[in-house]
Amino acid sequence: MTSPAFTYRSGFGNEFATEALPGALPVGRNSPQRPPYGLYAEQISGTAFTAPRAHNRRSWLYRIRPAVVHEPFRPLESGRLTSRFDEVPAPPTQLRWNPPPMPDAPTDFIAGLVTMGGNGGPQAQTGCGIHLYTANRSMQGRFFYDADGELLIVPQQGRLRLFTELGVLEVEPQEIALIPRGIRFRVELPDGAARGYVCENFGAPFRLPDLGPIGSNGLANPRDFLTPDAWYEDIDGDFELVAKFDGALWTARIDHSPLDVVAWHGNHAPCKYDLRRFNTIGSIGFDHPDPSIFLVLHSPSDTPGVDSIDFVIFPPRWLVQEDTFRPPWFHRNVASEFMGLIHGVYDAKEEGFLPGGASLHNCMSGHGPDAETFAKATAADTSRPQRISDTMAFMVETRAVIRPTRHALETAELQHDYYRCWQGLAKRFDPNRP
Ligand SMILES: [Fe+2]
Repeated sequence: MTSPAFTYRSGFGNEFATEALPGALPVGRNSPQRPPYGLYAEQISGTAFTAPRAHNRRSWLYRIRPAVVHEPFRPLESGRLTSRFDEVPAPPTQLRWNPPPMPDAPTDFIAGLVTMGGNGGPQAQTGCGIHLYTANRSMQGRFFYDADGELLIVPQQGRLRLFTELGVLEVEPQEIALIPRGIRFRVELPDGAARGYVCENFGAPFRLPDLGPIGSNGLANPRDFLTPDAWYEDIDGDFELVAKFDGALWTARIDHSPLDVVAWHGNHAPCKYDLRRFNTIGSIGFDHPDPSIFLVLHSPSDTPGVDSIDFVIFPPRWLVQEDTFRPPWFHRNVASEFMGLIHGVYDAKEEGFLPGGASLHNCMSGHGPDAETFAKATAADTSRPQRISDTMAFMVETRAVIRPTRHALETAELQHDYYRCWQGLAKRFDPNRP
């Protein structure tokens, strides 16, 4: 096997051009008739051909065999991975889960995917599936692609080495990876056990938000997104190609590794981003802005200003606002919020919300700090700055209600006593004490 070259190019959504052999990438034209080295030329389009130039995603691949060379697909047991979000009625109850335990049996990244909830679907081409993964072995003899959506992978424990058609990405906790729709890959686990979250985006590809009055710098800067250089393996054997297609898993035999792209150019390409590079922006006066200030990536809907998915993080930061309540305050949203904790402690819930765990606060369901955090924050001396240093939480905020799966509502990890964290919020009202 060729040893992977962990080299990257920086930028988000750029047109990249890269070759693992000198001269493998035709210059000036796509040359599908006679590419160099006896390669086949193949285009992969991640958006409609006619999408506006700024949002058009496509890449030209120069590969040993075209993607079509494999046997027919047969249904594969999908386990707890689903794109059906109507199995059970979605309760408006605030929900929280403990981290899922590591599997006992040998489980690779694909077998370890469990759907917690979602909305929309592959047919609607909007919304998302929200999954957790736990795995303890590398994918062996099989490869995967998702025709239904783009995969935003958020490791929480253990590194992932993502061998994709377009190159190798290594991501560790507090980094994220984006695998575009349709790109084939396999996952190795250099640390053995691995756990994390996946947001499967059925809609428009994630993009960086406009910055408006913030100006030309800040939040996630484009230069910090890293796309791998071309890398390939030329391996024959008896392998399996697994597809997620129209909500279910399928499998086909393939007699070679499909990770055989020797050169490519385009912008339909995987990338990674270190969340610790996020340039966090906040209030230096009073109160704090809406959490949209923490937006890393978003998938816009057809309605201007309304996203199908917002991927938001709560990174380490200074809180300096005066005469205010510094943690997230009590609120209700038109949006629905699925949260995960990657590292440390989340400032609105110092207990019960654990790394690897999750919470769901759906459309117009009240939520906010627990009683203990509220008591602490109301008594805090806001004339002094406060550093939140040991934390990295994220939120997938969606336009549509996030419907939990049957598994999410029946799993032993569901915290049935979650509601109690707010029951200590006593009546403080006194009409005689303005
Ligand atoms: Fe919220």
